[in-house]
Amino acid sequence: MLLRDLIEHAAARFEAAGIDSAEVDAQLLAGHVLGLSRGAIQAEVIRGAELTETQTDELNNLYGRRLAREPLQHITGKAHFRNLELEVGRGVFIPRPETEFVAQLAIDAIRQVAQPEPIAVDLGAGSGAIALSIATEVVNSKVFAVEKSEQAFEFTSRNFAAYKDCGAALILGDLADAFNELNGTVAVVVSNPPYIPIDAIPRDIEVRDFDPALALYGGEEGMDVIHHVSATAKRLLYSGGSLIIEHADSQADQVVQLLLADGWRQVRSHRDLTGRDRAVTAIK
Ligand SMILES: C[S@@+](CC[C@H](N)C(=O)[O-])C[C@H]1O[C@@H](n2cnc3c(N)ncnc32)[C@H](O)[C@@H]1O
Repeated sequence: MLLRDLIEHAAARFEAAGIDSAEVDAQLLAGHVLGLSRGAIQAEVIRGAELTETQTDELNNLYGRRLAREPLQHITGKAHFRNLELEVGRGVFIPRPETEFVAQLAIDAIRQVAQPEPIAVDLGAGSGAIALSIATEVVNSKVFAVEKSEQAFEFTSRNFAAYKDCGAALILGDLADAFNELNGTVAVVVSNPPYIPIDAIPRDIEVRDFDPALALYGGEEGMDVIHHVSATAKRLLYSGGSLIIEHADSQADQVVQLLLADGWRQVRSHRDLTGRDRAVTAIK
């Protein structure tokens, strides 16, 4: 069957089902089956490439899964974040493009530290996106990360193993009482915690049905885990150390007020590349 026909047909069905980026997803899944990049798939379409019956069946099977709203990254098993390729699937949060900006805030903060080996801690590591970005991009940093979910931790561990040369350390545990041995020695604490209010069910089926609840929901107002992040960061950071917290675009004021009440200094709100309030930084 013609690759072009398969992609066009799938893209039309994806679009009708309300999937954003319908054509891109159809191309990327074809690329997954054929072992080609999206650009190479576009070239194959132009040259009129045909798929074997086995390839056609395999691709149609993946298109069926996507049509059932399984996230693209679960089907391919991969997510791209900054310079990283991370293993993802059921049980782990898929890293989002907006978090790349939050990782950048942490990278900028740790690069300003005048120590030979500044320590950074990521609270709620998920796939390891933030922790591994810092560890691979700031080579003199020493990065520690904690993840509570055993299911997520399987992915976190594999991703930390894949990037083991950067020396980042990972533990399974609760961020509320993690890393007591580092108290007062840390330069940067960063977290993208669960922050959705418990009754604000996400609109996107991919998020609602496939991202783990522990990664999404932060109690009645979405602030429960952020409270713990503030307390743990206070314990870990030395005086003058930086805290970076990602939050929902509607929560900037709440997070700022929480940090001010907890005694943080220089509490600032930051917008992501789409202009939405996305993160708050503060100094201990
Ligand atoms: C929104 S996800 C972010 C994952 C990753 N840092 C990222 O930015 O893609 C939040 C993560 O925090 C973890 N988590 C939630 N509560 C936690 C806790 N009390 N201690 C440690 N990890 C926790 C979740 O399992 C999930 O992996």
